[in-house]
Amino acid sequence: MATPQLAGRHIVLGLSGGIACYKSAELVRLLVKQGASVQVVMTEAACQFITPLTMQALSNRPVALSQWDLREPNAMAHINLSRQADAILVAPASADFIAKLAQGRADELLSLLCLARPQHALALAPVPLLLAPAMNREMWAHPATQRNLAQARADGAAILGPGAGDQACGEVGDGRMLEAAELCDALIAALQPKLLAGLRLLVSAGPTFEAIDPVRGVTNLSSGKMGFAIARAAAEAGASVTLVAGPVSLATPLGVQRIDVQSALQMHDAVLALAAQQDVFVATAAVADWRPTAQAQKIKKDGSGRLPQLQWTENPDILAAVAAIANASPARRPFCVGFAAESQDLARHARDKLLRKGLPLVVGNIGPATFGRDDNSLLLVDAAGDRALPPADKLDLARTLVSEIARRLSEQGGGA
Ligand code: C5P
Repeated sequence: MATPQLAGRHIVLGLSGGIACYKSAELVRLLVKQGASVQVVMTEAACQFITPLTMQALSNRPVALSQWDLREPNAMAHINLSRQADAILVAPASADFIAKLAQGRADELLSLLCLARPQHALALAPVPLLLAPAMNREMWAHPATQRNLAQARADGAAILGPGAGDQACGEVGDGRMLEAAELCDALIAALQPKLLAGLRLLVSAGPTFEAIDPVRGVTNLSSGKMGFAIARAAAEAGASVTLVAGPVSLATPLGVQRIDVQSALQMHDAVLALAAQQDVFVATAAVADWRPTAQAQKIKKDGSGRLPQLQWTENPDILAAVAAIANASPARRPFCVGFAAESQDLARHARDKLLRKGLPLVVGNIGPATFGRDDNSLLLVDAAGDRALPPADKLDLARTLVSEIARRLSEQGGGA
Protein backbone atom coordinates (compact mmCIF):
# COMPACT_ATOMS: atom_id res chain seq x y z
CA MET A 1 0.00 0.00 0.00
CA ALA A 2 1.05 3.63 -0.51
CA THR A 3 2.77 5.44 2.36
CA PRO A 4 0.28 6.28 5.15
CA GLN A 5 -0.16 10.02 4.86
CA LEU A 6 -1.19 10.75 8.46
CA ALA A 7 1.19 8.52 10.42
CA GLY A 8 1.83 10.01 13.85
CA ARG A 9 -0.86 12.67 13.42
CA HIS A 10 -3.59 13.23 15.97
CA ILE A 11 -6.85 14.47 14.49
CA VAL A 12 -9.84 15.83 16.39
CA LEU A 13 -12.91 15.03 14.29
CA GLY A 14 -15.94 17.03 15.41
CA LEU A 15 -19.49 16.15 14.37
CA SER A 16 -22.32 18.64 14.62
CA GLY A 17 -25.91 17.83 13.72
CA GLY A 18 -26.72 16.78 10.16
CA ILE A 19 -27.66 13.75 8.10
CA ALA A 20 -24.13 13.84 6.64
CA CYS A 21 -22.92 12.36 9.96
CA TYR A 22 -23.18 8.96 8.25
CA LYS A 23 -20.29 9.97 5.96
CA SER A 24 -18.14 10.75 8.98
CA ALA A 25 -18.14 7.08 9.98
CA GLU A 26 -16.37 6.28 6.70
CA LEU A 27 -14.11 9.30 7.22
CA VAL A 28 -12.87 7.89 10.54
CA ARG A 29 -11.98 4.64 8.79
CA LEU A 30 -10.03 6.48 6.10
CA LEU A 31 -8.15 8.63 8.62
CA VAL A 32 -7.22 5.58 10.69
CA LYS A 33 -6.13 3.76 7.53
CA GLN A 34 -3.82 6.69 6.78
CA GLY A 35 -2.16 6.16 10.18
CA ALA A 36 -3.88 8.92 12.20
CA SER A 37 -5.16 8.62 15.75
CA VAL A 38 -8.66 10.09 15.74
CA GLN A 39 -10.47 11.65 18.68
CA VAL A 40 -14.14 12.05 17.86
CA VAL A 41 -16.09 14.85 19.53
CA MET A 42 -19.88 14.99 19.04
CA THR A 43 -22.47 17.62 19.80
CA GLU A 44 -25.83 16.61 21.24
CA ALA A 45 -27.42 17.17 17.82
CA ALA A 46 -24.87 14.88 16.13
CA CYS A 47 -25.90 12.08 18.50
CA GLN A 48 -29.40 12.26 16.97
CA PHE A 49 -27.93 11.18 13.62
CA ILE A 50 -25.28 8.58 14.50
CA THR A 51 -24.39 6.89 17.77
CA PRO A 52 -21.24 7.56 19.75
CA LEU A 53 -20.94 3.78 19.95
CA THR A 54 -20.38 3.55 16.18
CA MET A 55 -17.81 6.33 16.25
CA GLN A 56 -16.04 4.85 19.29
CA ALA A 57 -15.80 1.44 17.62
CA LEU A 58 -14.36 2.93 14.42
CA SER A 59 -11.92 5.30 16.14
CA ASN A 60 -11.03 2.86 18.93
CA ARG A 61 -11.40 5.68 21.49
CA PRO A 62 -14.23 6.89 23.71
CA VAL A 63 -16.05 9.77 22.04
CA ALA A 64 -15.86 13.12 23.85
CA LEU A 65 -19.40 14.37 24.41
CA SER A 66 -19.39 16.89 27.21
CA GLN A 67 -17.33 19.61 28.79
CA TRP A 68 -18.70 18.41 32.12
CA ASP A 69 -17.29 14.89 31.88
CA LEU A 70 -15.64 14.44 35.29
CA ARG A 71 -13.42 11.60 34.08
CA GLU A 72 -11.07 14.21 32.59
CA PRO A 73 -8.47 14.51 35.41
CA ASN A 74 -8.03 18.29 35.17
CA ALA A 75 -11.69 18.86 34.13
CA MET A 76 -10.48 20.84 31.10
CA ALA A 77 -11.47 18.71 28.14
CA HIS A 78 -11.46 21.71 25.78
CA ILE A 79 -7.82 22.56 26.56
CA ASN A 80 -6.59 18.98 26.49
CA LEU A 81 -8.33 18.13 23.22
CA SER A 82 -7.26 21.26 21.38
CA ARG A 83 -3.62 21.06 22.58
CA GLN A 84 -3.23 17.41 21.55
CA ALA A 85 -4.59 17.97 18.03
CA ASP A 86 -2.49 18.36 14.88
CA ALA A 87 -5.71 19.47 13.15
CA ILE A 88 -9.39 19.89 13.98
CA LEU A 89 -11.90 18.91 11.31
CA VAL A 90 -15.59 19.56 11.88
CA ALA A 91 -17.58 17.34 9.51
CA PRO A 92 -20.44 17.90 9.21
CA ALA A 93 -20.38 21.57 10.18
CA SER A 94 -24.04 22.60 10.47
CA ALA A 95 -25.32 26.13 9.77
CA ASP A 96 -25.91 26.54 13.49
CA PHE A 97 -22.42 25.37 14.39
CA ILE A 98 -20.80 27.77 11.89
CA ALA A 99 -22.95 30.59 13.34
CA LYS A 100 -21.62 29.73 16.79
CA LEU A 101 -18.02 29.80 15.59
CA ALA A 102 -18.59 33.14 13.86
CA GLN A 103 -19.79 34.61 17.14
CA GLY A 104 -17.11 32.97 19.25
CA ARG A 105 -19.72 31.17 21.34
CA ALA A 106 -18.70 28.18 23.40
CA ASP A 107 -21.71 26.62 25.09
CA GLU A 108 -20.76 22.98 24.42
CA LEU A 109 -17.53 21.02 24.08
CA LEU A 110 -16.97 21.19 20.30
CA SER A 111 -17.37 24.96 19.84
CA LEU A 112 -15.47 25.46 23.10
CA LEU A 113 -12.44 23.49 21.95
CA CYS A 114 -12.50 25.27 18.54
CA LEU A 115 -12.38 28.61 20.36
CA ALA A 116 -9.60 27.36 22.63
CA ARG A 117 -7.37 26.05 19.84
CA PRO A 118 -3.90 27.60 19.41
CA GLN A 119 -4.18 29.60 16.20
CA HIS A 120 -1.60 32.36 16.10
CA ALA A 121 1.59 32.01 14.12
CA LEU A 122 3.51 32.75 17.31
CA ALA A 123 1.81 29.89 19.17
CA LEU A 124 3.97 26.83 19.61
CA ALA A 125 1.79 24.78 17.29
CA PRO A 126 -1.00 26.61 15.45
CA VAL A 127 -3.76 24.08 14.89
CA PRO A 128 -5.58 24.19 11.56
CA LEU A 129 -9.38 24.25 11.81
CA LEU A 130 -11.23 22.82 8.82
CA LEU A 131 -14.99 23.02 8.38
CA ALA A 132 -16.98 20.77 6.06
CA PRO A 133 -20.39 22.44 5.79
CA ALA A 134 -23.47 20.27 5.23
CA MET A 135 -26.96 21.70 4.99
CA ASN A 136 -29.98 22.30 2.80
CA ARG A 137 -29.30 24.52 -0.21
CA GLU A 138 -31.55 27.34 1.06
CA MET A 139 -29.77 27.33 4.41
CA TRP A 140 -26.43 27.41 2.59
CA ALA A 141 -27.48 30.31 0.34
CA HIS A 142 -28.97 32.33 3.21
CA PRO A 143 -27.11 35.62 3.73
CA ALA A 144 -26.73 34.84 7.43
CA THR A 145 -24.88 31.60 6.66
CA GLN A 146 -22.70 33.27 4.04
CA ARG A 147 -21.92 36.08 6.49
CA ASN A 148 -20.99 33.57 9.20
CA LEU A 149 -18.80 31.59 6.79
CA ALA A 150 -16.96 34.74 5.75
CA GLN A 151 -16.37 35.53 9.43
CA ALA A 152 -15.20 32.00 10.22
CA ARG A 153 -12.82 32.19 7.25
CA ALA A 154 -11.52 35.58 8.35
CA ASP A 155 -10.92 34.09 11.80
CA GLY A 156 -8.66 31.43 10.26
CA ALA A 157 -10.93 28.47 9.46
CA ALA A 158 -10.62 26.71 6.09
CA ILE A 159 -13.93 25.83 4.43
CA LEU A 160 -13.99 22.52 2.55
CA GLY A 161 -16.69 22.43 -0.12
CA PRO A 162 -19.58 22.05 0.07
CA GLY A 163 -20.42 19.94 -2.96
CA ALA A 164 -23.53 20.29 -5.10
CA GLY A 165 -26.13 17.68 -6.06
CA ASP A 166 -28.96 15.63 -4.60
CA GLN A 167 -29.75 16.46 -1.00
CA ALA A 168 -31.27 14.22 1.69
CA CYS A 169 -34.33 16.50 1.75
CA GLY A 170 -35.01 15.70 -1.92
CA GLU A 171 -33.87 19.10 -3.22
CA VAL A 172 -30.89 19.60 -5.52
CA GLY A 173 -28.21 22.25 -5.05
CA ASP A 174 -25.21 23.42 -3.02
CA GLY A 175 -24.75 22.18 0.51
CA ARG A 176 -23.78 18.52 0.29
CA MET A 177 -20.88 17.61 2.53
CA LEU A 178 -17.81 16.54 0.54
CA GLU A 179 -17.22 12.80 0.35
CA ALA A 180 -15.07 11.13 3.00
CA ALA A 181 -12.16 10.55 0.61
CA GLU A 182 -12.15 14.23 -0.41
CA LEU A 183 -12.14 15.33 3.22
CA CYS A 184 -9.31 12.94 4.01
CA ASP A 185 -7.24 14.39 1.11
CA ALA A 186 -8.05 17.94 2.24
CA LEU A 187 -6.83 17.16 5.73
CA ILE A 188 -3.61 15.63 4.40
CA ALA A 189 -3.12 18.76 2.28
CA ALA A 190 -3.71 21.10 5.24
CA LEU A 191 -0.80 19.49 7.07
CA GLN A 192 1.75 19.98 4.25
CA PRO A 193 4.19 22.90 4.38
CA LYS A 194 3.06 25.79 2.16
CA LEU A 195 6.26 25.98 0.11
CA LEU A 196 4.58 27.37 -3.02
CA ALA A 197 2.05 29.70 -1.36
CA GLY A 198 0.84 32.40 -3.74
CA LEU A 199 2.55 30.88 -6.81
CA ARG A 200 1.01 29.57 -10.03
CA LEU A 201 2.10 26.20 -11.35
CA LEU A 202 1.18 24.59 -14.66
CA VAL A 203 1.74 20.90 -15.28
CA SER A 204 1.27 18.82 -18.42
CA ALA A 205 0.53 15.14 -17.85
CA GLY A 206 -0.31 11.85 -19.51
CA PRO A 207 0.07 10.71 -23.09
CA THR A 208 -1.27 12.43 -26.17
CA PHE A 209 -3.53 10.74 -28.73
CA GLU A 210 -2.85 11.45 -32.37
CA ALA A 211 -5.78 10.47 -34.57
CA ILE A 212 -5.19 8.36 -37.68
CA ASP A 213 -8.86 8.26 -38.63
CA PRO A 214 -12.15 8.61 -36.68
CA VAL A 215 -11.63 5.33 -34.83
CA ARG A 216 -7.85 4.87 -34.54
CA GLY A 217 -4.87 6.73 -33.24
CA VAL A 218 -1.30 6.66 -31.97
CA THR A 219 -0.62 6.98 -28.25
CA ASN A 220 1.82 5.69 -25.63
CA LEU A 221 1.91 3.98 -22.23
CA SER A 222 2.14 7.07 -20.01
CA SER A 223 -0.46 6.77 -17.23
CA GLY A 224 -0.31 10.41 -16.10
CA LYS A 225 0.22 9.33 -12.47
CA MET A 226 3.48 11.24 -11.95
CA GLY A 227 2.03 14.46 -13.39
CA PHE A 228 -1.15 14.14 -11.33
CA ALA A 229 0.95 13.51 -8.21
CA ILE A 230 2.94 16.68 -8.94
CA ALA A 231 -0.28 18.65 -9.43
CA ARG A 232 -1.55 17.36 -6.08
CA ALA A 233 1.73 18.03 -4.25
CA ALA A 234 1.90 21.57 -5.65
CA ALA A 235 -1.73 22.28 -4.64
CA GLU A 236 -1.00 20.91 -1.16
CA ALA A 237 1.98 23.28 -1.02
CA GLY A 238 -0.35 26.23 -1.60
CA ALA A 239 0.17 26.84 -5.35
CA SER A 240 -2.75 27.54 -7.63
CA VAL A 241 -2.38 24.66 -10.04
CA THR A 242 -3.57 24.07 -13.61
CA LEU A 243 -3.21 20.58 -14.99
CA VAL A 244 -3.32 20.06 -18.75
CA ALA A 245 -4.04 16.36 -19.11
CA GLY A 246 -3.94 14.04 -22.09
CA PRO A 247 -6.39 11.11 -22.22
CA VAL A 248 -6.13 9.40 -18.81
CA SER A 249 -8.75 8.13 -16.38
CA LEU A 250 -7.43 9.63 -13.16
CA ALA A 251 -9.35 11.69 -10.61
CA THR A 252 -8.50 15.40 -10.53
CA PRO A 253 -6.60 16.24 -7.32
CA LEU A 254 -8.50 18.46 -4.89
CA GLY A 255 -8.25 22.16 -5.67
CA VAL A 256 -6.59 21.63 -9.07
CA GLN A 257 -8.00 23.17 -12.23
CA ARG A 258 -7.95 20.62 -15.05
CA ILE A 259 -8.01 21.06 -18.81
CA ASP A 260 -8.46 17.85 -20.81
CA VAL A 261 -6.87 17.55 -24.24
CA GLN A 262 -6.27 14.76 -26.72
CA SER A 263 -3.54 15.67 -29.21
CA ALA A 264 -0.10 17.26 -28.92
CA LEU A 265 -1.36 20.31 -30.82
CA GLN A 266 -4.24 20.77 -28.38
CA MET A 267 -1.84 20.36 -25.44
CA HIS A 268 0.50 22.91 -27.04
CA ASP A 269 -2.31 25.45 -27.44
CA ALA A 270 -3.67 24.94 -23.90
CA VAL A 271 -0.21 25.22 -22.31
CA LEU A 272 0.99 28.18 -24.38
CA ALA A 273 -2.22 30.13 -23.63
CA LEU A 274 -1.36 29.97 -19.92
CA ALA A 275 2.43 29.71 -19.77
CA ALA A 276 3.35 33.39 -19.57
CA GLN A 277 1.31 33.91 -16.36
CA GLN A 278 2.90 30.98 -14.52
CA ASP A 279 5.67 30.84 -11.96
CA VAL A 280 6.46 27.20 -12.68
CA PHE A 281 5.87 24.84 -15.61
CA VAL A 282 6.43 21.12 -15.11
CA ALA A 283 6.28 19.10 -18.33
CA THR A 284 5.60 15.49 -17.38
CA ALA A 285 3.47 14.72 -20.45
CA ALA A 286 4.70 12.06 -22.85
CA VAL A 287 3.95 14.10 -25.95
CA ALA A 288 3.91 12.29 -29.30
CA ASP A 289 6.83 13.45 -31.43
CA TRP A 290 4.89 12.92 -34.68
CA ARG A 291 1.28 13.09 -35.80
CA PRO A 292 -0.22 11.47 -38.87
CA THR A 293 -2.47 13.41 -41.22
CA ALA A 294 -5.83 12.17 -39.95
CA GLN A 295 -8.18 10.66 -42.53
CA ALA A 296 -11.77 11.94 -42.48
CA GLN A 297 -13.23 8.42 -42.85
CA LYS A 298 -12.20 5.11 -41.34
CA ILE A 299 -9.41 3.52 -43.39
CA LYS A 300 -10.67 0.20 -44.75
CA LYS A 301 -8.69 -2.91 -45.57
CA ASP A 302 -8.43 -3.21 -49.37
CA GLY A 303 -7.40 -6.85 -49.51
CA SER A 304 -3.89 -6.02 -50.71
CA GLY A 305 -2.34 -6.90 -47.34
CA ARG A 306 -0.54 -3.54 -47.32
CA LEU A 307 -0.88 -0.82 -44.68
CA PRO A 308 -1.95 2.43 -46.34
CA GLN A 309 0.78 5.10 -46.29
CA LEU A 310 0.37 7.82 -43.65
CA GLN A 311 1.86 11.33 -43.84
CA TRP A 312 3.67 12.29 -40.62
CA THR A 313 4.41 15.79 -39.33
CA GLU A 314 6.63 16.62 -36.36
CA ASN A 315 4.76 18.04 -33.35
CA PRO A 316 5.90 21.31 -31.76
CA ASP A 317 8.05 20.95 -28.66
CA ILE A 318 5.80 22.42 -25.95
CA LEU A 319 8.45 22.52 -23.25
CA ALA A 320 11.06 24.14 -25.50
CA ALA A 321 8.50 26.80 -26.47
CA VAL A 322 7.72 27.60 -22.81
CA ALA A 323 11.42 27.57 -21.91
CA ALA A 324 12.03 30.12 -24.68
CA ILE A 325 9.43 32.44 -23.06
CA ALA A 326 11.13 31.97 -19.67
CA ASN A 327 14.62 32.54 -21.02
CA ALA A 328 13.45 35.78 -22.64
CA SER A 329 11.82 37.11 -19.44
CA PRO A 330 13.90 39.13 -16.94
CA ALA A 331 12.39 37.15 -14.03
CA ARG A 332 13.22 33.89 -15.86
CA ARG A 333 9.66 32.68 -15.27
CA PRO A 334 8.08 30.28 -15.57
CA PHE A 335 10.73 28.11 -13.96
CA CYS A 336 10.68 25.15 -16.38
CA VAL A 337 11.09 21.54 -15.32
CA GLY A 338 11.43 18.89 -18.02
CA PHE A 339 11.07 15.15 -17.71
CA ALA A 340 13.22 12.59 -19.45
CA ALA A 341 11.70 9.12 -19.74
CA GLU A 342 14.54 6.93 -20.96
CA SER A 343 15.31 3.24 -21.17
CA GLN A 344 19.07 3.63 -20.53
CA ASP A 345 21.84 6.19 -19.94
CA LEU A 346 19.52 8.35 -17.87
CA ALA A 347 22.03 10.94 -16.62
CA ARG A 348 23.49 11.58 -20.07
CA HIS A 349 20.11 11.91 -21.82
CA ALA A 350 18.70 14.11 -19.04
CA ARG A 351 21.68 16.48 -19.16
CA ASP A 352 21.43 16.58 -22.93
CA LYS A 353 17.77 17.70 -22.62
CA LEU A 354 18.71 20.30 -20.00
CA LEU A 355 21.11 21.95 -22.42
CA ARG A 356 19.14 21.40 -25.65
CA LYS A 357 15.90 22.89 -24.30
CA GLY A 358 17.55 25.55 -22.10
CA LEU A 359 16.03 24.28 -18.82
CA PRO A 360 17.06 24.93 -15.20
CA LEU A 361 16.00 21.41 -14.10
CA VAL A 362 15.37 18.04 -15.74
CA VAL A 363 13.93 15.01 -13.94
CA GLY A 364 15.00 11.67 -15.36
CA ASN A 365 13.25 8.36 -14.92
CA ILE A 366 13.35 4.97 -16.56
CA GLY A 367 10.13 4.94 -18.60
CA PRO A 368 9.44 1.21 -18.92
CA ALA A 369 10.12 0.75 -15.18
CA THR A 370 7.53 3.31 -14.10
CA PHE A 371 4.77 3.61 -16.74
CA GLY A 372 1.45 2.86 -15.01
CA ARG A 373 3.00 2.17 -11.60
CA ASP A 374 2.42 3.98 -8.31
CA ASP A 375 6.12 4.18 -7.51
CA ASN A 376 9.14 5.54 -9.30
CA SER A 377 12.70 6.68 -8.74
CA LEU A 378 14.00 9.97 -10.08
CA LEU A 379 17.26 11.62 -11.03
CA LEU A 380 17.31 15.41 -10.68
CA VAL A 381 19.76 16.98 -13.10
CA ASP A 382 20.71 20.66 -13.11
CA ALA A 383 23.75 22.88 -13.59
CA ALA A 384 25.01 21.98 -10.11
CA GLY A 385 25.01 18.20 -10.67
CA ASP A 386 22.82 15.12 -10.29
CA ARG A 387 20.73 14.02 -7.31
CA ALA A 388 19.09 10.58 -7.19
CA LEU A 389 15.76 10.19 -5.38
CA PRO A 390 15.47 6.49 -4.44
CA PRO A 391 12.35 4.40 -5.19
CA ALA A 392 9.25 5.75 -3.48
CA ASP A 393 5.56 6.38 -3.95
CA LYS A 394 4.95 8.93 -6.73
CA LEU A 395 3.24 11.32 -4.29
CA ASP A 396 6.25 11.27 -1.96
CA LEU A 397 8.58 11.91 -4.91
CA ALA A 398 6.30 14.70 -6.12
CA ARG A 399 6.47 16.38 -2.69
CA THR A 400 10.28 16.17 -2.73
CA LEU A 401 10.33 17.62 -6.24
CA VAL A 402 8.05 20.47 -5.12
CA SER A 403 10.44 21.30 -2.28
CA GLU A 404 13.40 21.20 -4.71
CA ILE A 405 11.55 23.61 -7.03
CA ALA A 406 10.62 25.91 -4.11
CA ARG A 407 14.26 26.01 -2.97
CA ARG A 408 15.48 26.94 -6.45
CA LEU A 409 12.81 29.63 -6.78
CA SER A 410 13.77 31.22 -3.48
CA GLU A 411 17.46 31.08 -4.48
CA GLN A 412 16.50 32.87 -7.70
CA GLY A 413 14.73 35.47 -5.53
CA GLY A 414 11.08 36.34 -5.19
CA GLY A 415 9.97 32.78 -4.41
CA ALA A 416 7.83 31.72 -1.44
O1 C5P B 1 12.08 15.95 -26.47
P1 C5P B 1 11.88 14.85 -25.47
O2 C5P B 1 10.61 14.08 -25.67
O3 C5P B 1 13.06 13.95 -25.38
O4 C5P B 1 11.78 15.60 -24.04
C1 C5P B 1 10.91 15.21 -23.00
C2 C5P B 1 10.44 16.43 -22.27
O5 C5P B 1 9.94 17.40 -23.19
C3 C5P B 1 9.28 16.14 -21.35
O6 C5P B 1 9.32 17.07 -20.29
C4 C5P B 1 8.07 16.37 -22.25
O7 C5P B 1 6.89 16.67 -21.51
C5 C5P B 1 8.52 17.55 -23.08
N1 C5P B 1 8.00 17.57 -24.45
C6 C5P B 1 7.11 18.56 -24.82
N2 C5P B 1 6.64 18.62 -26.12
C7 C5P B 1 7.04 17.73 -27.03
C8 C5P B 1 7.95 16.71 -26.68
C9 C5P B 1 8.40 16.66 -25.38
O8 C5P B 1 6.71 19.37 -23.98
N3 C5P B 1 6.57 17.80 -28.27
